[in-house]
Amino acid sequence: MLRVCVIGAGNIAKTIHLPIYSLHPQITLVGISDLSEITLNKIADEFNIKNRYTDYIQMLDDLKPDIVSICTPNKYHYIQSMAALERGIHVFCEKPPAMNYQELKQMWKKSIEKKCTIAFNFHHRLRKETLMLKNWVESGRQNDIYYAEINALRRRGIPGWGNFTNKDLQGGGALIDIGIHMLDLFLYVMNYPKPLYVIASSSNRIGIKGGEGDFGAWNGDKFEVEDSLYGQITFEGGLSVHIKTAFAHNFEIKSDMNVSLFASDEGAKLHPFTRYGNHDPIIEFQEETIQGLSALPNFIESLQSNNTLPLTSIESVILTQRLVDALYLSASTNQPIRMEDHNVSI
Ligand SMILES: NC(=O)c1ccc[n+]([C@@H]2O[C@H](COP(=O)([O-])OP(=O)(O)OC[C@H]3O[C@@H](n4cnc5c(N)ncnc54)[C@H](O)[C@@H]3O)[C@@H](O)[C@H]2O)c1
Repeated sequence: MLRVCVIGAGNIAKTIHLPIYSLHPQITLVGISDLSEITLNKIADEFNIKNRYTDYIQMLDDLKPDIVSICTPNKYHYIQSMAALERGIHVFCEKPPAMNYQELKQMWKKSIEKKCTIAFNFHHRLRKETLMLKNWVESGRQNDIYYAEINALRRRGIPGWGNFTNKDLQGGGALIDIGIHMLDLFLYVMNYPKPLYVIASSSNRIGIKGGEGDFGAWNGDKFEVEDSLYGQITFEGGLSVHIKTAFAHNFEIKSDMNVSLFASDEGAKLHPFTRYGNHDPIIEFQEETIQGLSALPNFIESLQSNNTLPLTSIESVILTQRLVDALYLSASTNQPIRMEDHNVSI
């Protein structure tokens, strides 16, 4: 049996982490922590968890779990992961891995020092469509793909709840919240190509107006992050990638979470998984829903098997975080970024 504690009893803990742990035959949920006693007691009652803490350090020291899940705002991923790793506890943390690469590097070092596993909830990697796209890349196209498009766009999807527009707690807006998922998926299916240059610009024009959209009403006066970011990344070998991410983007559909890859014989798109070329488009598969999908079961399996790395291990997300840093650096300085000149380089 693996003993588990959860830090943060909000939306993602309630809908993903706690249901998975509570149904898993080899897991015992031993404790939960949240700053809000009301939230804490409500969720702990719902999942029948006896030990409740407003201080997560106290919880880790009292209960000494094998695993901790981190489900708090982005700002706390680093400090809470470090506290757990320092105590020899394996960590499953929500995305983004950290606020920036400097934090992630410390988490990585600590996990090696303490021989602990740390992985992140990049659940799009586990989709069947992702596997199909990855297989398509790996069937001889790895070095032939010369262009790609990464889209994580909503027409009016500025979150009206939670902390998603708070710069201090989240570190950024559309890129670090939704763009990061598709950027990570792209890097994963492409086997982590080496980036050379990054250029990006961002906007908050729609966010600061305030308003109401598909994700509720938001306050323009409290909108502190980018509502959109558009960039280009050039990789070694001449692969050119456009990334577009937005909570609010005036286009014809409600949302587009997609990765498209272009090789000389064919192009392919993630969703629905489609191939194009000197033939009509072939739609091979369409996922009905990815609701409830998580990288957590794979993380638990990897701990049980003792010698396999989880699919979303810290080693595998380093490049994702470095490119998020580089895109933000370019957008904030209005300068192109040469990766090797910065500490965002690989
Ligand atoms: N994988 C995904 O697609 C996905 C989806 C949604 C959210 N998330 C991530 O999950 C994280 C949490 O998001 P959420 O939507 O659940 O937010 P939320 O606001 O619903 O929940 C966060 C909870 O953490 C608690 N908290 C804050 N600081 C704490 C601390 N120091 N100790 C203990 N508890 C603390 C808050 O009181 C709150 O209850 C974010 O990093 C977000 O990016 C990931």
